[in-house]
Amino acid sequence: MASVTMEVESAASGNKPLTEWVAQLAELCKPDRVHWCDGSADEYQTMLRLMVQTGVAIPLDAAKRPNSILVRSNPGDVARVENRTFICSRSKDDAGPTNNWEDPAKMKGKLRQLFGGSMAGRTMYVIAYSMGPIGSPIAKIGVEISDSPYVVANMHIMARVGTKVLEALGNADFVRGLHSIGAPLKPNDQDTTWPCDSEQKYICHFPETREIWSYGSGYGGNALLGKKCHALRIASVQARDEGWMAEHMLILKLISPSGTTKYITGAFPSACGKTNLSMLIPTIPGWRVETIGDDIAWMKFGADGRLYAINPEYGFFGVAPGTNMKSNRNAMLTATKNSIFTNCAMTADGDVWWEGMTEQKPAELVDWLRRPWTPSAGRKSSHPNARFTVPAKQCPAIAPEWEDPKGVPIDAILFGGRRAGIVPLVTESFSWQHGTFLGATASSETTAAIAGKVGELRRDPMAMLAFCGYHMGDYFAHYLKMGAESSKVPKIFYVNWFRQDENGKFLWPGYGENSRVLKWVFERCDGKVHATDTPIGRLPDPSDLDVKGLDLPSATLAKLLSVDVQGWIEEVPRIKEHFAKFGDRLPKGLQDELTGLEQRLKAAKK
Ligand code: GTP
Ligand code: SPV
Ligand code: MN
Repeated sequence: MASVTMEVESAASGNKPLTEWVAQLAELCKPDRVHWCDGSADEYQTMLRLMVQTGVAIPLDAAKRPNSILVRSNPGDVARVENRTFICSRSKDDAGPTNNWEDPAKMKGKLRQLFGGSMAGRTMYVIAYSMGPIGSPIAKIGVEISDSPYVVANMHIMARVGTKVLEALGNADFVRGLHSIGAPLKPNDQDTTWPCDSEQKYICHFPETREIWSYGSGYGGNALLGKKCHALRIASVQARDEGWMAEHMLILKLISPSGTTKYITGAFPSACGKTNLSMLIPTIPGWRVETIGDDIAWMKFGADGRLYAINPEYGFFGVAPGTNMKSNRNAMLTATKNSIFTNCAMTADGDVWWEGMTEQKPAELVDWLRRPWTPSAGRKSSHPNARFTVPAKQCPAIAPEWEDPKGVPIDAILFGGRRAGIVPLVTESFSWQHGTFLGATASSETTAAIAGKVGELRRDPMAMLAFCGYHMGDYFAHYLKMGAESSKVPKIFYVNWFRQDENGKFLWPGYGENSRVLKWVFERCDGKVHATDTPIGRLPDPSDLDVKGLDLPSATLAKLLSVDVQGWIEEVPRIKEHFAKFGDRLPKGLQDELTGLEQRLKAAKK
């Protein structure tokens, strides 16, 4: 390891602001040692060993899941904590009404206290990472400092990390991320299995200085700073300033039976189906889907006026429960090796299990809280936000061009959410401005991906409610501006896989069957299939949606593709209430769209 260490340190030494920053933070956090991550396979194994030694991880049976571990966190640290997430812009107005705000100097003061000595007894890891293929004109480099081997191991999978990133960085600027689990060790302290600060958590962003300081949590998006903190909250600000887009979107490639290709992105809130859609196996003959990304898209205009997207990530951090060989075969096959499982249950023969993985529940398990479990236990064996971390390149459906540095040209954007009522299966927007309105008014019932209540309806504009690093009204304006930039912008659609009947049963089978909707979207992009104008947008004629081989009553299909005018009239005041939050920062174009919707609904009622 010695020569590797020298290599990584020499790669870093050319960047004085970086080495000085690390030295300053080591001074503040007082770790026992500083380790510059080189990104090697050896380093990854060292992290796994460390986690096994401290009891946070358990190796899975090597014959069943080679090179994989199960990690169990602490019940107080299982998901993103939105109420502890802050945007610390100089002016409160710039954070807007949807973000928690604190004055940057005040917050830094508070954080300096918390970070003071917070890494005592631990190692400070310096993780240089690239969001996007190294050298891509759309990619960006950040450095995360963390005291968690779990973070280092996950970052190895989720981003390109180590010496090669430092070499690409040279002496350029980078996004600065500081993370501590907030659990210093005194000399004779015994470490706990999931050290964190269960009392205090702060996930703080300083958009003007491109900094992230995250304290107290070791879980997912709270701790893997390249993901939501950098690639969405900080990047959305960079994108606004530099004229591009950083979005909470999957990217997929749809191939028709004749071999024509379209690229589609989709923005759905957390745990609303991005990973599933990005890896979908079409149920309609001849159609194929390949995966580019499952959570985040960075998009920039190319010289040809088209919008090009890259997946800034290198792996998938996917929701485990509900994933099985029927619902998402490709995710199951991606997670067969080299994977980290968090908060899943463990089987008697050393493998993982989660609710919905197999039809038959195992007779006995150890649940995610390390207690014996049987099917009669009356509780779930895995946490609803249990996750797998897997290398994207292991996905059998990964598109050959997924790492193309110039990105892929996007044909269609889907917005959506979980709505039990009124929202049709698919709606096409009339224009980019109307599509922006559909995105801006997107709503969804909350899921277990967020600490707090599940099933509450909330507006989640472009699935970015928790991820936009500035004023949401300005973000809408940025969308409109991007649309005005080119005549070749993608078409925008709104989808809802989650419509329910009176008994709470899903009306639409979802998953692979969503390919039927994708096919219609594909054909609309080519202008090859008809759509009917309604007050809320353009809808497929039921006869144009390919439902061959699907056991779906025609009344159900009609319901999925009809407009509930009265329901929508009742929706309008809720949209007004939502828009009122943005005050004079709500772009006029969106106000116009709301007026238009209201008028069309009134006319339809007559
Ligand atoms: P994040 O990683 O939190 O951003 O979530 P995601 O948007 O990638 O969601 P994911 O694909 O992991 O799906 C979350 C949950 O929704 C899982 O329990 C899925 O089984 C379920 N789900 C996904 N697609 C569908 C669908 O088409 N229909 C129904 N009914 N459920 C779905
Ligand atoms: C989400 O919550 O949207 C996720 C999981 O993708 S996390 O990385 O924890 O944010
Ligand atoms: Mn997500």
